[in-house]
Amino acid sequence: MPQPIAHLQQFDASPSRGVALPDGRQAFLVRVHGRVSAFVNRCPHQQVPLNLPDGDFLEAGGELIQCGMHGALFLPESGECVFGPCQGRFLEPLAISIDAEGNIHLASE
Ligand code: FES
Repeated sequence: MPQPIAHLQQFDASPSRGVALPDGRQAFLVRVHGRVSAFVNRCPHQQVPLNLPDGDFLEAGGELIQCGMHGALFLPESGECVFGPCQGRFLEPLAISIDAEGNIHLASE
């Protein structure tokens, strides 16, 4: 079994976290209303990482993903940008699976 990219327990301390994928890409996971979703860490506006250094991936209310560069907001369910310069475009989603121990894997692995 390949290495998990995260564990459910990690979201108890913070609802979002950045991870490096086995292929070298940067990604992030968020947990909103108990549902974990994962995306490539690249804003569709200017193709840069969403989190400022040491920054979070969620806006202050914890409901929407936020790009720290120009403040675009994205739905955690779909990655759709609903506010900001890339409105109507999408983050690149990553399919994940969660095993019985809470380990989170890329679904393609
Ligand atoms: S680079 Fe993300 S909103 Fe501009």
